[in-house]
Amino acid sequence: PSLPKPLVVKVQPEAEVDDGKKKVTVFFGTQTGTAEGFAKALADEAKSRYHNTAFKVVDLDQYAADDDEYEEKMKKETLALFFMATYGDGEPTDNAARFFKWFTEGKERENWLENLQFSVFGLGNRQYEHFNKVAKVVDEMLANQGGKRIVPLGLGDDDQCIEDDFTAWRELLWPELDQLLRDENDVSGASTPYMAAVPEYRIVFVKPEETSYLEKSWNLANGHASHDIHHPCRVNVAVRLELHSPASDRSCIHLEFDIAGTALTYETGDHVGVFAENCIETVEEAERLLGYSPDTFFSISADKEDGTPLGGGSLSPPFPSPCTLRTALARYADLLNSPKKSALVALAAHASDPSEAERLRFLASPIGKDEYSQWVVASQRSLLEVMAEFPSAKPPLGVFFAAISPRLQPRYYSISSSPRMAPTRIHVTCALVHEKLPTGRIHKGVCSTWMKKSIPLEESQDCGWAPIFVRQSNFKLPADPSLPIIMIGPGTGLAPFRGFLQEREALKESGVELGHAIFFFGCRNRKMDFIYEDELHNFVDRGVLSELIVAFSREGPTKEYVQHKMTEKASSVWNIISQGGYVYVCGDAKGMARDVHRVLHTIVQEQGSLDSSKTESLVKSLQMEGRYLRDVW
Ligand code: 2AM
Repeated sequence: PSLPKPLVVKVQPEAEVDDGKKKVTVFFGTQTGTAEGFAKALADEAKSRYHNTAFKVVDLDQYAADDDEYEEKMKKETLALFFMATYGDGEPTDNAARFFKWFTEGKERENWLENLQFSVFGLGNRQYEHFNKVAKVVDEMLANQGGKRIVPLGLGDDDQCIEDDFTAWRELLWPELDQLLRDENDVSGASTPYMAAVPEYRIVFVKPEETSYLEKSWNLANGHASHDIHHPCRVNVAVRLELHSPASDRSCIHLEFDIAGTALTYETGDHVGVFAENCIETVEEAERLLGYSPDTFFSISADKEDGTPLGGGSLSPPFPSPCTLRTALARYADLLNSPKKSALVALAAHASDPSEAERLRFLASPIGKDEYSQWVVASQRSLLEVMAEFPSAKPPLGVFFAAISPRLQPRYYSISSSPRMAPTRIHVTCALVHEKLPTGRIHKGVCSTWMKKSIPLEESQDCGWAPIFVRQSNFKLPADPSLPIIMIGPGTGLAPFRGFLQEREALKESGVELGHAIFFFGCRNRKMDFIYEDELHNFVDRGVLSELIVAFSREGPTKEYVQHKMTEKASSVWNIISQGGYVYVCGDAKGMARDVHRVLHTIVQEQGSLDSSKTESLVKSLQMEGRYLRDVW
């Protein structure tokens, strides 16, 4: 490591200069960073292909302050590429939500995008019901409003290899962009396969004693008047409890964050985003593989030596620094997910053993596709496991943080309390992720492991803390509390309903008349994982919950699931629906919510004596009216 160079961050004002260059805007709607990464990779490669074109990578949220500005700016776009991820129950990502609402629900406009040429790449997962819904809608609406589609919609499927889908779409895009943007000075031809340069952050090693810096700590963020993913709030863990009985071989944690005195507020049904740290074993393994000492102290910035921003993005650094390598790895590095192909290429570039470099490149290449699917994806090899197999690959830290390890993402939980009962606390109900993978590795979920180990303030002043923020949801009780409701939430799907029931209890105490409420809960065994059992019975005793119906999946000879119980109660379910009531589902999207959805159709069809198309449209209308709401993951 070279020591120490003063860090100069060259901030360039973002002026709209007319330099005669053609302009392309690359928009992204990202939740976990993949769409953003693709947008930047595309812009980087495009810049080196088309020298007379300016590419701008834009976060959809930061593009415009309000609807009018969206309209005004979008009207001026002539060539735009969209990377749109679909999230949760067919929803846009948080940073695309405003844009999506404006674009799809705003006023009717015809042919106002006549000057726009566009293409959309979607990021989704075929396992989910609304596969790539957001990208499909945006693509269609851009075309309907006069835009000219230059390449068909790309449907990225994260269940398979989304990088391959991106590559395939990109190969369709180049010939079109060549036509539109190629200049006589641009040398790259379609015949030469292009290898994108490995991105790299700028690292400056600092001697702690020679700097006046203090390690920037998260609590600085608490000065913000409001909190979001970019400005989380540092809060203490007040309470931590195990919810399973000792007889269970699994674990489920009840955690309470103390939000007293902060600007954090929440509503029943909202989500909390938690930035947890990697556990110490994981961090130590990463330090060993990288070959740096844990107290290596460095600054990181996103500008290249020449002061231009990386990937056409902003100049803001990827994370607060200077800090130690230990801190950076614990807080900011995703070390346990499988590496992307682009990460393998970056590792190969820094492997001193040629045979290792060759194998890494093979795995990332089209001919190594099956091997990559098997050896990396299907066996769920983590980045660290892959690095351990290629010990000669020692990437510099700037490459590691820019191209190999993605940024560690916050984990979202449905808040399991109501501010009416717990105004200064945010409760979380979290199942410990602890599973044996095909390689024999025990995968420990980053956030659930952190929660399991965190020390609550009840036990020590030196308690656990995390940066958190609240994400609003539309998973809310009916505005009219006298309407009947059905809640379906096995396992930790119970979480938001505990909040609902607390809210109903507060309403009841203030004299409000409550409608009928049924809760279908499911767990394996009454003695092991019937979480919050006493509380639920108390809600029944106090008339806050009318019926508690529990499916035990591993008590009898056959599996009993919540949907089986719903079938048994079909006429009550139908009554509630036909009385204008609400249906809520929370939990696993791919298995439970999908099965419940089918059963709901069957109940509506049979009880209402409807044909299948009438059934379909009735369930659709329940969804449209916001009377069938799902909080699924
Ligand atoms: P199982 O683990 O015995 O299969 C909470 O996780 C409960 O949800 C468990 O009892 C679990 O049962 C059950 N469960 C698993 N898959 C489900 C599905 N597709 N639909 C409904 N419940 C399910």
